[in-house]
Amino acid sequence: MKILICGATGLIGSALTKLCIQENHQIHYLTTRKSKIEHAENKKGFYWNPAQGEIDTACFEGVEAIINLSGANIAKSWTEAYKEEIMNSRIDTANVLFKAIRNMENHTVKHFISASGIAIYPSSLTEYYTEETEKEATDFLGTVVKQWELHANQFKSLEISVTILRTGLVFSANGGALVEMSKPVKYGVGAAIGSGKQWQSWIHIDDIARMYLHALTNKIIGTYNGVAPNPTTNKLLTKEIASVLKKPFFLPNIPKFMMKLILGEMSTLLFSSQKVSSEKIEKTGFEFKFKELTPALEDVFEK
Ligand SMILES: NC(=O)c1ccc[n+]([C@@H]2O[C@H](COP(=O)([O-])OP(=O)(O)OC[C@H]3O[C@@H](n4cnc5c(N)ncnc54)[C@H](OP(=O)(O)O)[C@@H]3O)[C@@H](O)[C@H]2O)c1
Repeated sequence: MKILICGATGLIGSALTKLCIQENHQIHYLTTRKSKIEHAENKKGFYWNPAQGEIDTACFEGVEAIINLSGANIAKSWTEAYKEEIMNSRIDTANVLFKAIRNMENHTVKHFISASGIAIYPSSLTEYYTEETEKEATDFLGTVVKQWELHANQFKSLEISVTILRTGLVFSANGGALVEMSKPVKYGVGAAIGSGKQWQSWIHIDDIARMYLHALTNKIIGTYNGVAPNPTTNKLLTKEIASVLKKPFFLPNIPKFMMKLILGEMSTLLFSSQKVSSEKIEKTGFEFKFKELTPALEDVFEK
C-alpha cells in the first residue's frame, strides 16, 4: 500500500516509516524541512509549509492512506508565541491536507489516521479513562487536543474513514519524555515529582508504531487510546527507571512549586494525571509486545 506520512522525521514517524518499509509498503512523506527530502525506492519526500498553506500535491499520487503525526513539539518552553505554534501547527496541517484533497478531481485516499493525545482527559488521580469518557480537559493541552481531533474528523465529510490514536507517554531511547526523565536518575539525583501519585499512561515506541500499522491494515476506524495496558504512577516509574539503570532512588519528591517556578505552565506536563484504558484497541485484535513496565524500560535502556 502507498502511505503518506506527515511528521515522518519525528520520534514516532521514524519508527513507523521503518516498520512500514519492512512490511513492503511504499512511503511518501511530507516535511517542512527541505534538507530532509529523500528519494529512495520505497520512500519519497515532499515539501510543505502548512503555516503558509503550501503543499506539493504530487505527494498524494496513488496514496491510499494518510497518517498525520505533524505538530510542534510540546516539550519546549511555552511562551505565548510557542503555544500558538503548538495549536496552529496541528490545525494547519489537517487543514492543508483537507483542502488539497477536496480540490482534487480524483484522489485515491480512503483512510486518514491522526495522532492525538491523552491530554484530552481531565487530570485525575481516581478516574480510569476509556474512549467513551465525555469529560474533556479545559486546560491549554486539552483545548489543543480537542481542536486537533475536530480537524482530523473533518475528513469524514470527504467520505474518508478517520482513525484517531490518543497517545500516551512514548518510551523510546531516541528522545521524548523518558530520555529527559532518565537524565537526573543517571546522575544519581532521580526523584518523583510532586506527590508522585499522578498516573502516567505509557506505551513502548515499537507498540505505538505497530498500532498505527494495525489500524491501517485492519481498517480500524474511530477513536482509540494508544497506551499500554498497565499505566503506572510517576513515583513507580521513576523508581523503575532507577532500578533498570542500577542507580539509587532515595531522594525526597521534588515539590510542585519548584517545578512550577522552573517550567511555568508547562509544568502541567509533569503533574497531569491520566489513567487510561487500552481495552478498546485490544478488542480489535491488537497484541502489545510490551504490556508491563519493567520489560518495556529494560528494552529501551538496553538497546
Ligand atoms: N512522543 C510522545 O510521547 C507523544 C505523546 C502523545 C502524542 N504525541 C503526538 O504524536 C505526534 C508525533 O509525536 P512525535 O513524538 O513523533 O513528535 P516529534 O518527534 O516532535 O515529531 C513531530 C514532527 O512534526 C513535524 N513538525 C514540527 N513542527 C511542525 C510545524 N510547526 N508544522 C508542521 N509540522 C511540524 C516535524 O517534521 P518535519 O520537521 O519533517 O516537518 C516533526 O518531525 C505529535 O503530534 C505528538 O504531539 C506524541
